[in-house]
Amino acid sequence: MTVSRCHARVPIAFGRPSPVDAVVLARRPELPLLCLRPAVATAEAARFVAAFPGEVLYAVKCNPDEAVLRALAVGGITHFDVASINEVRLVHRLFPAARLHFMHPVKARSAIREAYFDHGVRDFVLDGEAELAKIVAETAAARDLRLIVRLGLAKGGARLDLSGKFGAGVEAAGELLRSSAKCAATVGLTFHVGSQCCDPSAWERALDQAGAVVRAAAVGLDVLDVGGGFPVPYPDVRPPPLDAFLGAIARGVSRMDLPGGCALWCEPGRALVAGCQSLVVQVQARRGDTLYVNDGVYGTLSDAGVLGFRYPCRLIKATGQGVGRMRPFDLYGPTCDTLDHMQGPFVLPDDVAEGDWIEIGQIGAYGSCLGTGFNGFGEVIRVELAKAAGGNSASGRKAA
Ligand SMILES: Cc1ncc(COP(=O)(O)O)c(C=O)c1O
Repeated sequence: MTVSRCHARVPIAFGRPSPVDAVVLARRPELPLLCLRPAVATAEAARFVAAFPGEVLYAVKCNPDEAVLRALAVGGITHFDVASINEVRLVHRLFPAARLHFMHPVKARSAIREAYFDHGVRDFVLDGEAELAKIVAETAAARDLRLIVRLGLAKGGARLDLSGKFGAGVEAAGELLRSSAKCAATVGLTFHVGSQCCDPSAWERALDQAGAVVRAAAVGLDVLDVGGGFPVPYPDVRPPPLDAFLGAIARGVSRMDLPGGCALWCEPGRALVAGCQSLVVQVQARRGDTLYVNDGVYGTLSDAGVLGFRYPCRLIKATGQGVGRMRPFDLYGPTCDTLDHMQGPFVLPDDVAEGDWIEIGQIGAYGSCLGTGFNGFGEVIRVELAKAAGGNSASGRKAA
């Protein structure tokens, strides 16, 4: 594994002149400004779709913003991993011809019914016999189901561990594959190595486990879904290139000796959208090395709180260019809760002052979708940069 702890270059144009500066200095916003670069999402989707040797399902939970979904569709995304009936409704309304995969292993009965009968969903994930019985009952024992068994993995090295909550063990997954095969048109196997996983060999280990399940089940597999988890750079992490992950997946798949017609899927979220949004916050007070800003862990910056994600940042001075030496700051968000704290460090010029703005990058993944209205905060101004990272014009709207 070649993850270096260094100041990685992030795919956002943080140099000057930036179209964001022009917007900020013209509007002088006192609300957080969420800046979307649709062309970045389009380019990342196109890059991933071109590189991955199978179907790319975008994990909608990561960023369900309609403009983001549209930008991904322009980049070639036609399959969507949806996890709730509201995500099903949203994507079906935007893209009636898209294929939706209901990838939450525990679903409400009404959600299964509506997804199947009203939105044409045929792909359902499951990790237990009870969920299988539920899907069969709520679809009136449909014969055109495509059932995907979620395999549980042991805790790995991903930044966000997804083990424990979902997934059948090796033996149970094999049995579930066999029982699913009796009532489905096609069967598949999936797993998730955890989000922001910088270690390509995690996929190889998971695929070896998947191979053991398939051999024990003696079922002809129609679909192998290697999940999401593909990492992006942050100031303290430079992940290996996408090729390293695709190489590991290719090696793991080749050891599985799958039937020729078996389809390969993946479900990236973060890798497609992290770079397409940045957030501009305003400094409302400075106390030493601590800045009080107008967005925080109950808003767009949830992962900067307890999880301690670091984001690239830069200062936009209210009165011209920042001139001070760079030094680390920590941030407090606007709510009254002490937990609304972001350790960072956020490295900024030391003359940052009340009234200045800070642009925080890489906020497109698990950013605004995790925001709440706690304490009466949560309102942001949304701006779309027409030409993405190099954009020079903007249109905006407020959103609660
Ligand atoms: C089932 C499933 N697929 C895909 C994803 C997307 O993961 P990531 O954003 O790490 O690529 C998640 C994230 O939680 C998930 O739970």
